[in-house]
Amino acid sequence: MKNEILNTRFVKITLSSPKNGAQYDKISIRPVILKGKDYIQAERFKESKVFHLNVEKTAFGNFLDETLPFYAQICVFTAGKTVTFFCKNGKIKRSESKNDLKGEINLANNREKDYILKEGENIPPLVDLGVFTRDFKIVKSKYDKYKQINRFVELIDDECGKIEKEEITILDFGCGKSYLTFIVYYYFAKIKCKRVKIIGYDLKKDVVSGCNKIAEKYGYENLEFVVADVKKDVLYDREIDIIISLHACDTATDYALYYAITKGVKNVFSVPCCQHEINLSIKKGGDMDCLLKYGIIKERVSALLTDSIRAMILEDMGYKVDVIEFVDLAHSPKNLMLRAKKTRGVKFVNAEEIERLQTAYGFEQTLFKLVNGKK
Ligand SMILES: C[S@@+](CC[C@H](N)C(=O)[O-])C[C@H]1O[C@@H](n2cnc3c(N)ncnc32)[C@H](O)[C@@H]1O
Repeated sequence: MKNEILNTRFVKITLSSPKNGAQYDKISIRPVILKGKDYIQAERFKESKVFHLNVEKTAFGNFLDETLPFYAQICVFTAGKTVTFFCKNGKIKRSESKNDLKGEINLANNREKDYILKEGENIPPLVDLGVFTRDFKIVKSKYDKYKQINRFVELIDDECGKIEKEEITILDFGCGKSYLTFIVYYYFAKIKCKRVKIIGYDLKKDVVSGCNKIAEKYGYENLEFVVADVKKDVLYDREIDIIISLHACDTATDYALYYAITKGVKNVFSVPCCQHEINLSIKKGGDMDCLLKYGIIKERVSALLTDSIRAMILEDMGYKVDVIEFVDLAHSPKNLMLRAKKTRGVKFVNAEEIERLQTAYGFEQTLFKLVNGKK
């Protein structure tokens, strides 16, 4: 088994069903490149914590010698095939099944080691918010959220890490429990040592009040949470540098984008959430009809259409837009980010096509309505 693993170009290996003496409940292993060097990274899960270990490729054999005997089930995932080893009473049973993993392992994009928020780093609000334990380890059930906010901050860092302004103002639409808001504040105020003003908006009074208490507790000046309906309430409207939204429900995302457009906000980072609007109204009407036949496909197509239309509108409004997969699907099914930077004036290039699609397929899209003065 060990030799087979060492001679396999694997995407991932999982070790589960711990035996007596196992230190961890489960281990997930994958290849990574850190600072240009090949490593094997082990995510080791124990109760509610996750521990990372980066093993040099040359030491991987020793790592397997020390680890494999403690797990009864070992699954080796390669492109297209999963090999499972069941190890019981000194015997190994091997089976194979097909999988739909892709051949390319995107090592270049692997930035684990470069994470801006590091496990073990003293970020106290993350403890209050239940993302870190008291000793700053990641709480297992919050691991996906941790990945999301970390990646979000990385993307902000790529675009805005070098902003020279003395004070940066950021609005967060649909901040919810505000994991992201706190982290973005921490990034600018504590890592970049910038003056930053952040306002998080949400409908939920109790959640907003809890977030304000945490901000106060840690003396986070100019971090404020406000109860507001971003679809209709009056929001902060002085110089705004960045608008962010992470999974703001349905059309709340459109209002975030519209606010950015109308206030000329230079940088927008928006990860949309559930998107019911087009799915509920779209009708058959042309070449796309076969994509509307089956419920689940229709739902996905509608969501993708929504984001395409949003991106196209932003382009017309003078933004350079990137639609990027913001985290791996495993960490969130809502994993597309619209990253937009205002680089020029308004030029209607896409509006006609959106209008045509709306007419042909009988739907209306909120951001399109808003930019066309219909509310
Ligand atoms: C799925 S949660 C995401 C929260 C947070 N951004 C995160 O990623 O953890 C969506 C949040 O958007 C808020 N929301 C939905 N519609 C809103 C509106 N019209 N105005 C303000 N907040 C809204 C909800 O109350 C909820 O807290």
